Amino acid sequence: MSDEPVIRIRQVQHAFGTGEAQKQVLYDVDLEVMPGEIVIMTGPSGSGKTTLLTLVGALRTVQAGSLQVLGHELAGLSHKQLVAIRRNIGFIFQAHNLFDSLTAYQNVKMAMELHDCDAHEARARVTAILTTLGLAHRMHAKPHALSGGQRQRVAVARALVHRPKLVLADEPTAALDKDAGREVVTVLQQLAVEERAAIMLVTHDNRILDIADRIVNMVDGRIISDVVVQESVAMCAFLAKCPVFAQLTPTTLSAIVDKMTKERHTAGTALIRQGEVGDKFYLIRRGQCEVSIADGASQRVVNTLAEGDFFGEMALLTGTPRSATVVTTDETEVYTLGKEDFAAAVAASASFKEQLLKVFFQRQ
Ligand code: CMP
Repeated sequence: MSDEPVIRIRQVQHAFGTGEAQKQVLYDVDLEVMPGEIVIMTGPSGSGKTTLLTLVGALRTVQAGSLQVLGHELAGLSHKQLVAIRRNIGFIFQAHNLFDSLTAYQNVKMAMELHDCDAHEARARVTAILTTLGLAHRMHAKPHALSGGQRQRVAVARALVHRPKLVLADEPTAALDKDAGREVVTVLQQLAVEERAAIMLVTHDNRILDIADRIVNMVDGRIISDVVVQESVAMCAFLAKCPVFAQLTPTTLSAIVDKMTKERHTAGTALIRQGEVGDKFYLIRRGQCEVSIADGASQRVVNTLAEGDFFGEMALLTGTPRSATVVTTDETEVYTLGKEDFAAAVAASASFKEQLLKVFFQRQ
């Protein structure tokens, strides 16, 4: 399994037109998309999302910055080289360009012909994907005999049938009703899980935001936020499970999560040392830690903390030195919240402070 990003964008700028009429549409764009990740791009029209998507799809020339796609740097490539890269990308764009003289089945099968694939396997794959997309009964119909939604699904089948490692989609569900839209996103999700394909899609369709691993929001040519959805949802659930955070509203919880920083540590790392000044609050995302207290010359283990547990609150609340040493016993991921942000969260809720103090006294 490769952990190299499928898309790696560094400091990409882009402008249309020249001289006086030049209009910059992308500024300092940095973005990475990993295998298996589904990234939804949102933002007002004209914010640069589609330009970025077409740059990633090797459909435009990179003007400034670096853009690596499927392991190739696109900046500086010739037209011919860009065309070769496009072959390995699945495009779902609204103008679906189906061949009118070919049936739905033949349109999809054509996409397989660009790739080395045994004829029997090709037929099976075309039939399977059209069936999954609810088109088993329309396989031999030509585009003019299909509805707009059905044509869009044929285009989706054609983009995905060769199981590309990267899929770029622009409003893939816009022409579809709720059920057909769900079928399309289910196929995208399957591809992300089964083939570890990276999927980048531009959409205004709120009904499909739930499939995103990350939501990237663009405004005026810049990425203004890049939120890891599942992670943020998981963290809010963890915080809400702690009695001390249970009182906070989901909005306050997610505002706290947004301020937290993820850290990865190997086993045996001392995250907190007894006696030191406290600087941050910790929540365990994955892994395990051991809490110990100096007992004469030796350390006495007083607790083991795991996923969803928090620590480091006592020194921050009381201003006293760290009451214990906390060491990772596994490869561990923690989210930390700085002292000031922690204080702000405490101030946000009087009962929150009361509860924290209760935990504090229980531990004494
Ligand atoms: P703090 O004193 O800031 O730093 C050490 C942390 O260890 C402390 O906050 C608590 O979060 C945690 N801790 C201390 N004693 C115990 C205990 N008996 N059980 C669980 N956690 C503890």
